[in-house]
Amino acid sequence: MSDVLLKVEDIQTYLGDSHIIQGVSFEARAGEVVALLGRNGAGKTTTLRSIMRMAPPRSGAVTFDGRDLRGLRTYEVARAGVAFVQETRAIFPSLSVEENLRIAVRGKSDWSVERVFDDFPHLAARRRNGGAQLSGGEQQMLAIARALVASPRMILLDEPSEGLAPIIVEQIAALLLKLKAAGMTMLLVEQNFALATEIADRAVVLGKGRVRWTGACEDLKGADDVRRTWLGV
Ligand SMILES: Nc1ncnc2c1ncn2[C@@H]1O[C@H](COP(=O)(O)OP(=O)(O)OP(=O)(O)O)[C@@H](O)[C@H]1O
Ligand SMILES: [Mg+2]
Repeated sequence: MSDVLLKVEDIQTYLGDSHIIQGVSFEARAGEVVALLGRNGAGKTTTLRSIMRMAPPRSGAVTFDGRDLRGLRTYEVARAGVAFVQETRAIFPSLSVEENLRIAVRGKSDWSVERVFDDFPHLAARRRNGGAQLSGGEQQMLAIARALVASPRMILLDEPSEGLAPIIVEQIAALLLKLKAAGMTMLLVEQNFALATEIADRAVVLGKGRVRWTGACEDLKGADDVRRTWLGV
């Protein structure tokens, strides 16, 4: 098993009667950043929700650091060390940035609230502002920061660049590269191909609920047919 942290094996997930995830398998090694790519509706979010057991797979297995996650509740998956930064960002609008962080602290994280403010100067400048006063980019940074203070061993991110201006996307990219340099394992869902391949080591391309391609990001850049058919870029 050595250094495989997350292992997804042949999961089948239904939403209502719809068979959305049709046998997806991939893995992430400790310290690796894996991009999960695909067009709208490919099943990216449902795959993340399957791992978190918000949409529990009907069959197949998800293993985290050798532990079978079947039967666990979502909060137990989080407690096992998997943080999920959802598209909705889920911050508290009536609390300040600092309060949003303090209530997310769990265990003794490598990222204390103070370290987060050191590493995220944009948030430090907004420390006492209310969540509702933040820009989209600042909300995204806060959502990532909230994940970090909860002592995760891996972070799942659902389209962190969505809806953000290019200059803000660059700030998010810099932040994710900083986390990568610190050794954080990440599963990065993105529609921004350039961003994803800048940050990730490997890519898993989903299409219609199945894995269509997997390999090094470098190789995906040259795989024109895969990009055209399954990514539309
Ligand atoms: N509650 C639901 N019931 C039935 N089908 C659903 C439900 N939610 C999503 N779907 C369908 O499941 C498929 C996969 O959706 P999912 O949100 O995982 O895709 P995605 O790759 O994250 O797409 P996007 O890029 O738009 O976020 C889509 O065809 C979607 O229409
Ligand atoms: Mg999605």
